[in-house]
Amino acid sequence: MSLKEEIERRRTFAIVSHPDAGKTTLTEKLLLYGGAIHIAGAVKSNKIKKTATSDFMEIERQRGISVATSVMGFEYNDIKINILDTPGHKDFAEDTYRTLSAVDSVIVVIDVAKGVEEQTEKLVEVCRMRNTPIMVFVNKLDRDGKDAFELLDEIERILKLKVRPLSWPIGMGYNFKGVYNIYNEKLYLFSGKDKQVREEPKEIKDINSIELDNEVGKAADKLREEMELIRGVYPDFDQNAYLDGKVSPVFFGSALNNFGVQELLECLINIAPWPKPSFTFEREINPYEEKFSGFVFKIHANMDPKHRDRIAFVKICSGIFLRNTNYLHTRIGKQFKFSSPTAFMAQKKSVIDEAFPGDVIGIHDTGNFIIGDTFSEGEVIHFKGIPSFSPELFKYVENADPMKSKQLAKGLDQLMDEGVAQLFTRSMNGRKIIGTVGALQFEVIDYRLQHEYGATARFDGVDFYKACWMTGDKVEIEDFKKKKFKSMATDKHGRDVFLAETSYALSMAQDNFKKIQFHFTSEFSK
Ligand code: G4P
Repeated sequence: MSLKEEIERRRTFAIVSHPDAGKTTLTEKLLLYGGAIHIAGAVKSNKIKKTATSDFMEIERQRGISVATSVMGFEYNDIKINILDTPGHKDFAEDTYRTLSAVDSVIVVIDVAKGVEEQTEKLVEVCRMRNTPIMVFVNKLDRDGKDAFELLDEIERILKLKVRPLSWPIGMGYNFKGVYNIYNEKLYLFSGKDKQVREEPKEIKDINSIELDNEVGKAADKLREEMELIRGVYPDFDQNAYLDGKVSPVFFGSALNNFGVQELLECLINIAPWPKPSFTFEREINPYEEKFSGFVFKIHANMDPKHRDRIAFVKICSGIFLRNTNYLHTRIGKQFKFSSPTAFMAQKKSVIDEAFPGDVIGIHDTGNFIIGDTFSEGEVIHFKGIPSFSPELFKYVENADPMKSKQLAKGLDQLMDEGVAQLFTRSMNGRKIIGTVGALQFEVIDYRLQHEYGATARFDGVDFYKACWMTGDKVEIEDFKKKKFKSMATDKHGRDVFLAETSYALSMAQDNFKKIQFHFTSEFSK
């Protein structure tokens, strides 16, 4: 198969949701379709949480929380699907944000009863930064929930996504009869008795025909009315608008009962994008370029607790990656070759000889890689789009064991490279401050420092609201740094960071220093 064919048969995406909306269950069902796992019937989601590929770390097993991000690849109808899993816990949102930098599209799962929730909002915002095409799956239709139109309004209002339903529910909860697939004009009926089996789809080209009444009885008229309304309210589905991230198709179903999942998968194969160009600080990289390039978007620590080794996840952006071939690590300017790069096919890891754009490979790391590192065939490029986000929780970190200060420094350094949290040095007193997006990360850091590095840290509370990077008028920035000396720090790369105590302090700074732009992510146009 040519490089072009390999690229165009790849779909790399992430499934994101607010915890408990059904992301894990949907992932599991998709894997079942791909034959990547073989578990008969509807399996409780916890099973996959325990057995699936995302279960690498000790701490994760203990807490039952998916701390890490992993990759699940499978083939379906000659299409190579790569699902990049994201942590279910909201405290690990930053991990999810980074994973979103490596996907070409996203499925957002929404619970029909709960509607749009906080975490969904944040994740969609991150997708919007990159115009990532988004599909929405409204889940748990076997339960009573919000009216479908009400939900669509909510998605448009809160998530600021233009929507276009491509399937439509017939009934809900106890009365859930099935969905009408607007995309392929087929009726999918739900066998109500055991809520597992789906009858064969019935093609209904004309929903005004008597056939529909025969199939769904009284619900037929309601469906017709709703279809009329949809046609009146929403413009026809425009695939290009979807690919530009401007309109989101919406599907309805029940992941637990495996209803609406195959339709979602089939539509995704048809309309979701294959790998598109990526951006480096130097130039645009086209996936069809012959020369290989890729970047590290995730580092996964200590798969084996006995060794302090790590796996770096590399997204292939162009060309063909080959095993045992020298590639330039552009940050440190050295050649590296990888003798056992792995691919992730559902629960199995296997060594691969080649990989194509859209694929994600794992490479063994003994501490050479950090998030954002770029590999190429010699050209000095640096991929963009993997920013750090302003943390929301801050603590001073101190060494609690004078004999182990080296271990602590090393542990902190490596954990920060992995992107577990961000480290700032306060200008006023030189003290180190750890910033995270969730409280749990402090526990993870504490646990890992002890178990992996033999170091003991003490955390002291310090009240800041946000960390902001700054650009703008140099003289004004110098003036600002003097006036706000107590709130100034530097990040790991030595860049100035303003630690705003409160949202009021931040808006005062924005008002009083008009020539400075305050950024909430570490990557901005220079
Ligand atoms: P998450 O990854 O987004 O956090 O959600 P997950 O799939 O773990 O699902 C959260 C809960 O919602 C699970 O129940 C799961 O069984 C249930 N669920 C998922 N899809 C559907 C659906 O279509 N209909 C209904 N009724 N429930 C659904 P749980 O009680 O938390 O866990 P479990 O004991 O059932 O595994």
